[in-house]
Amino acid sequence: MAIERTFSILKPDATRRNLTGKINAMLEDAGLRVIAQKRIQMSRQNAETFYAVHKERPFFGELVDFMISGPVVVQVLEGENAIAANRDVMGATNPKDADEGTIRKTFAESIEANSAHGSDSAENAAIEIAYFFAGSELVG
Ligand code: CMP
Repeated sequence: MAIERTFSILKPDATRRNLTGKINAMLEDAGLRVIAQKRIQMSRQNAETFYAVHKERPFFGELVDFMISGPVVVQVLEGENAIAANRDVMGATNPKDADEGTIRKTFAESIEANSAHGSDSAENAAIEIAYFFAGSELVG
């Protein structure tokens, strides 16, 4: 088993409802360690750059508006197979499709306000971590 790092965002619907501790408990129960974390307000530029891969999708504008609608918590998670482990505990993007016991099934309000983001590959994890964190902020 490989120890990996992945990038996570607790989205504005989670900070608004004061759910960040409950979500962190689910991440930790899934074997993930929060090795870096900060609460930030994303700028429009931050959100557009972060989600640039989706810029041609019809939901892009609403996605960016939502991600800057309140503070988010950006995180680096570490653990065995952290990328897959985080995606498993998050559940499907659309909470209607998410398994019982997952973060999105438990907390998400909609496909947009779906409480958490997690990197989908090792390559994207490295890019996303570097976008929000300096190497000196990662203390494993
Ligand atoms: P996330 O994992 O952060 O990556 C892109 C986000 O776009 C996704 O979670 C959803 O919250 C959001 N989104 C909004 N509408 C859609 C849609 N129709 N299909 C996929 N993602 C969507």
